[in-house]
Amino acid sequence: MNRNGNAIFDSSLDTYLQNAQKNQLDELSDWLRIPSVSTLPQHKADVERAAEWLARKMTSVGLQNVEIIPTAGHPIVYADWLHAGDDAPTVLVYGHYDVQPVDPEEMWISPPFEPTLRGDDLFARGASDDKGQLFAHVAAIEALLATSGALPLNVKFLVEGEEEVGSQALADYLPSETEKLAADVCLISDTHILAPDQPLIIYGLRGIWAGEITVRGPSQDLHSGMFGGAVHNPNQALSALLARLHDSAGRVAVPGFYEDVQPLTVNERTALAQVPYGEAELLQETGVPAAWGEEGFTITERIGARPTLEINGMWGGFIGDGFKTVIPEEACAKVSCRLVPDQQSSAIGPMIERFLKQIAPPTIEVVVNTLQHAPATVVPLDVPEMQAASRAYNRVFGVEPVFSREGGSIPIATVVQESLAIPILFMGFGLPDDNLHAPNEKLHLPNFYRGIRVGIALMEELISSCLQCGNGAE
Ligand code: BES
Ligand code: ZN
Repeated sequence: MNRNGNAIFDSSLDTYLQNAQKNQLDELSDWLRIPSVSTLPQHKADVERAAEWLARKMTSVGLQNVEIIPTAGHPIVYADWLHAGDDAPTVLVYGHYDVQPVDPEEMWISPPFEPTLRGDDLFARGASDDKGQLFAHVAAIEALLATSGALPLNVKFLVEGEEEVGSQALADYLPSETEKLAADVCLISDTHILAPDQPLIIYGLRGIWAGEITVRGPSQDLHSGMFGGAVHNPNQALSALLARLHDSAGRVAVPGFYEDVQPLTVNERTALAQVPYGEAELLQETGVPAAWGEEGFTITERIGARPTLEINGMWGGFIGDGFKTVIPEEACAKVSCRLVPDQQSSAIGPMIERFLKQIAPPTIEVVVNTLQHAPATVVPLDVPEMQAASRAYNRVFGVEPVFSREGGSIPIATVVQESLAIPILFMGFGLPDDNLHAPNEKLHLPNFYRGIRVGIALMEELISSCLQCGNGAE
């Protein structure tokens, strides 16, 4: 019911949504054609174009106070609709319009920035992460304003262009604009559900530390015939150091790494055990011959609730065609850790550096450089908004959502929780096999259209939650 007691999904809205599908797809495709890769300087103008595209679309659907806010990095886009009255709740919708690089481009079946429909899936970089999922909420607003001229509650949009590079500009902006961004709940659709028909509410995301390890040897590259055997090869030394970062039980071997990690409670383990995801699903989705990980923990626990250390890339010396007999002057590795609650993200870099310096041989020098860090996020399960989220999914999918913790990171989430003191609803509708950050990213269109309906249903359910908890509409 909306505030006047009418069901939001009346027949005119339903007809509108059915007829709007082609247009919604065409418009999303237009946006996906803009290669807004935030990490690559050559795409800076494209990132800006993607922000402008969104701002134009927001204006055209009837959102107001649409702003493109310049930052030291990529712009933030803000818009709102605040005519539901002071006593109606306010939802802050967060998303990001930047995307990951496309490499290796030759692995894409269709070009990453030419959105292509195959079956029920739309293939393009950013289709799921996060343009498609965010666009669904803009489309939800469009549908409501077009059919009834009003929204049942107040809405603010906060959309950034730097999520994939750590959200620095938004982390600086948000704490200074708490009045403007004040809301009762934050809605983030930048996650996935379990399967096309199985919604998932994520109540925790891991934090992150990302950095570089550099091993330095000779003051310049050397001929491996003239010097090989007499100087320590930095590639070899780096490999040996990296191999010491885990023990044989799959645990991170950096002293202190687990010090602040709270053991999983029996309740939490029981809850995570309900998630229908195990080794069979993992092997099927990833193509690995066997699972790997920390002994004593299930796959769901390893991914969502335990910290990790990953080597994301390594280079040093010659990697072109053919061969070159060289001892490189240095070797590097990009490393990142996923963190769980109570781990201090700022402490991880120094911890790794201390350990590596301690075990490094005197034949080389090792340094660790921090690039990014953000703590883990946990959202409370016992707030009425969570029940509203659950009912909204149930209404559209016809099944209760599963609750779980997930492994990815959304760095701004903790800043939202701390600065605005509101709960976050992580309500995605992407799928685990959407190929995020990989070739052939896709969006499953039936879920995109359901996502639009979930957004609308959530507004309605939030209003009834608020009435129940006595701090809402009346
Ligand atoms: N959409 C993801 C976050 C995500 C992925 C949540 C999978 C839940 C499950 C987001 O766009 C992302 O990729 N974030 C980065 C942040 C990093 C670059 C600081 C990540 O997790 O690697
Ligand atoms: Zn991402």
